[in-house]
Amino acid sequence: MESVAEIIDDLRRQINEHNHRYYVLNEPSISDYDFDQLLKRLEALEREHPEFDDPLSPTHRVGSDITKGFEQHAHVYPMLSLSNTYSVSEVDQWVDRTVKALAGQECEIVGEMKFDGTSISLVYEHGRLVRAVTRGDGEKGDVVTQNIMTIKSIPLQLLPGDWPEMFEIRGEVLLPWKEFERLNEERAFNEEPLFANPRNAASGTLKLQNPAEVARRGLDAYFYYLLGENLPHDNHYDNMMAVRSWGFKVPDQMTVLRGIEEVDRYINHWDKARKELPVATDGLVFKVNSIKQQLNLGFTAKSPRWAIAYKFPAERALTELRFVSFDVGRMGIITPVANLEPVLLSGTIVKRASMHNEDILNQLDVHEHDMLYVEKGGEIIPKITGVDTSARKPGAEKVKFVSHCPACGTPLVRQDGEAAWMCPNKYGCVPQITGRVEHFVGRRMMNIDGIGEEIAQALFDARLVENIADLYDLRLEQLMALERFGKKSAERLINGIEQSKQVPFERVLYALSIPFVGETTAKKIARHGRTLDRIMEMSEAELCSIEDVGAVIARSVIEYFAAPANRQIISRLRAAGLKLEIEEDESLTPASDRLKGLTFVISGVFSKHSRDEYKAMIERNGGKNSGSISKKTSYVLAGENMGPAKLEKATSLGVPVIGEDDFLGMID
Ligand code: IVH
Repeated sequence: MESVAEIIDDLRRQINEHNHRYYVLNEPSISDYDFDQLLKRLEALEREHPEFDDPLSPTHRVGSDITKGFEQHAHVYPMLSLSNTYSVSEVDQWVDRTVKALAGQECEIVGEMKFDGTSISLVYEHGRLVRAVTRGDGEKGDVVTQNIMTIKSIPLQLLPGDWPEMFEIRGEVLLPWKEFERLNEERAFNEEPLFANPRNAASGTLKLQNPAEVARRGLDAYFYYLLGENLPHDNHYDNMMAVRSWGFKVPDQMTVLRGIEEVDRYINHWDKARKELPVATDGLVFKVNSIKQQLNLGFTAKSPRWAIAYKFPAERALTELRFVSFDVGRMGIITPVANLEPVLLSGTIVKRASMHNEDILNQLDVHEHDMLYVEKGGEIIPKITGVDTSARKPGAEKVKFVSHCPACGTPLVRQDGEAAWMCPNKYGCVPQITGRVEHFVGRRMMNIDGIGEEIAQALFDARLVENIADLYDLRLEQLMALERFGKKSAERLINGIEQSKQVPFERVLYALSIPFVGETTAKKIARHGRTLDRIMEMSEAELCSIEDVGAVIARSVIEYFAAPANRQIISRLRAAGLKLEIEEDESLTPASDRLKGLTFVISGVFSKHSRDEYKAMIERNGGKNSGSISKKTSYVLAGENMGPAKLEKATSLGVPVIGEDDFLGMID
């Protein structure tokens, strides 16, 4: 009979192998369902036997703890950059120079992609990941191990192989195009600022304080540089192939090249072919293959002499304008959008590009069916940068900005000094109404799942949801009578609506769609006013006294609450039981001396508050925090996944181990 430890070990090994097949090799050999079953079995066993916990177990990849701030760590080898060029002939000159510097020795060059993400350095000891550090200032970076652990293509434990006992590996953390677009769609929907390109999205994600959110975003990582003593081979390429066999994702495009001709051919090929890759690239990197030759060539202060980056020129395409549409946003702002003949640009098909406002439309001087230049240049939201006037069709008319709302026909208005035209028909213009409902239910607002653009439209067409308050009158049978809903989806929506009544007031205020009041401003106004009633009574002067609130926002808030339609909505939201005042924040509870003389050790992962919050609560109530368990410890405050060694020590010293609820009870 196998022991529990053996079963756990075996499950971990199987899961690691399946992860590698799925995320690195792209060749899964079992179904997602069967994989989930393995993971569930392991989770259950680890829960029953916390003594066999391992921080690198594949069950910890999802990450749940909240890390506050990042520790910094010095790089053993500084993280340098690459010298780069946009010119093929400069790459050729570099090859010439390098061969000369090596006194005419035969010199192999490795060609590889220059990935456009954020670089990472991983340190492994005895085949286990010990640390992941960002580039930082090149000398030291942020320790982001927990976030890196959520990237499933990164091996936490290496596959068997000839790896040195200790080594460092560098690569690029990337958000693949598909994930990037999904994330931005979601952000657009929630009216959060969009990431300009996958690089920003990747580096922003890696610095999140919430590994669970990092896991959700779908980062990936490719590796291109192995450092350390006792490397298995004397050349870069073979080392990278070894690295691949240890479980890392090493890009397939890596090739050994001989001579300028092969280098130029590689550039020509990948200049086009890179557009088919699932991740963003901004160039190619050429490296001298032999490590001995690399050492001979050495480094300048900033970069190795044995490598050079060739950068691709910014991406631009020429395509025909089909028509210009005028979108109506939830605030009534009208945006001219170029609807294009679909064109491939940096790996994505572009069909629409914003032309922002009337002034920009006029500057571009767009005529019907013009050929337009669309550019991405690393930025994801495509821009129209110009018109090829030589291709203008005879008799084509200039595209004019509309004078009436394309949705409801109301004459548009433009405020002094503003670039945007607006439809003033706030309560009768359908895209504004459905847009506000979509905003209201967004994840960062009321977090009601299951209402997108089409459902919002369907609910409006059925006259069920004509404003946000109508959501709280929805009944199951009304939804089920609609074509779009089954029993399950209708129940889910009703549940979500019910749960939204617990959403804190700051988010309710943001969800209302008060013009100019974004997430942060809503928070500041809510914290200042504390209750909606108070905020509704505030004068312009008082509103302006709040940080970040100026006259425009203050007037907008006053106007919003003065409108009878809004007042009616608010009284219905109140009747439905939404939170319309700030709840007393735990962190603001008055200090006490209930924990005076007591010393706590905190261990594990908590669900109600973060570790730091618990630490602060202990201190505010007169207690002390300590990092290690001793005879002097009064209590161990234990969350999930408390380390087995700590548990054993606490038990052997007779120190009581308490959970979150016990602790909260002590200070309540
Ligand atoms: S090698 C000492 N190879 O480009 C040289 N870097 O400008 C170490 N990068 O910080 C880097 N793809 O983030 C190397 N195939 C590749 C790369 C690559 C992208 C990034 C990396 C580095 C920057 C250098």
